[in-house]
Amino acid sequence: MGRLEDQIAIVTGAGSGIGRVACERFAAEGARVVAVDLDADTAAHTAEAVGGVAVVGDVADPELWARVVATTDELGGIDLAYLNAGVYGHSGPIDELSDGVYSRTVGANVGGVVLGVRAVVPVMRAAGGGAIVATASVAGLVPFAGNPIYSATKHAVAAFVAASAPSLAGDGITIDAVCPGIVDTPMTEGAAGGLDLAALGIDLIEPAEVVTAALDLATSEGTGRCVVVRAGQPPHPWELPTFADLMAPPGD
Ligand SMILES: NC(=O)c1ccc[n+]([C@@H]2O[C@H](COP(=O)([O-])OP(=O)(O)OC[C@H]3O[C@@H](n4cnc5c(N)ncnc54)[C@H](O)[C@@H]3O)[C@@H](O)[C@H]2O)c1
Repeated sequence: MGRLEDQIAIVTGAGSGIGRVACERFAAEGARVVAVDLDADTAAHTAEAVGGVAVVGDVADPELWARVVATTDELGGIDLAYLNAGVYGHSGPIDELSDGVYSRTVGANVGGVVLGVRAVVPVMRAAGGGAIVATASVAGLVPFAGNPIYSATKHAVAAFVAASAPSLAGDGITIDAVCPGIVDTPMTEGAAGGLDLAALGIDLIEPAEVVTAALDLATSEGTGRCVVVRAGQPPHPWELPTFADLMAPPGD
């Protein structure tokens, strides 16, 4: 018996990397998968491989989310939403950032999570609950000087997840984030720009390790968690200070 038997799972960024592996794992655990990606060919390829359904479009576009919900309505609801699509974007000097790359980076990384949560919450609430997991990054927990815009968007994801959890808990909906270091995917091949990461002593994380952490979050007690995923090590929770902690007078 799989851990997602008879469940319906949405995965964004399903055409490549972590998202593709998530679709394979969730299907192997018994879920019917809705594979969402901007790229029609890779979305269709993943959906076909896992016996799922492809929905093609931009996660930053509310119209895409209307089609995702229409698709899941036909299938019978949404038990799990893995909001994973993202782009690395521009890592050069800030004054060389184009308008298009800026809006695509914020759109995919932040909009894809905020609009995804907005779309799936009413469906999950009506069914009595559900699980949402987002892919943030270690660059969303600490400043990452290699790409400040990417780091800003991933901080936004981690904060949105942790800040949304209390209000969603009343509806039986959990929301958590996986925060990987550097994962062995096509995004990293592009971002590393020919750097020999092994020679730098950086162990690449397998996409399957990230997916296992996401599945564990989705199927365990708790919400509002940001877990760090590193190569070959058990995921560990990252404790963010609370709003109340920082509002307290010094010395308290
Ligand atoms: N690769 C890493 O080292 C790493 C580390 C930490 C976090 N992450 C995050 O993991 C997630 C997955 O990354 P990956 O490494 O698998 O990358 P990837 O490039 O292999 O896959 C990303 C997928 O998302 C899709 N996508 C991009 N923008 C989209 C949009 N606006 N709408 C719909 N689909 C869109 C792409 O077409 C692609 O199929 C991203 O959010 C990324 O920021 C990656």
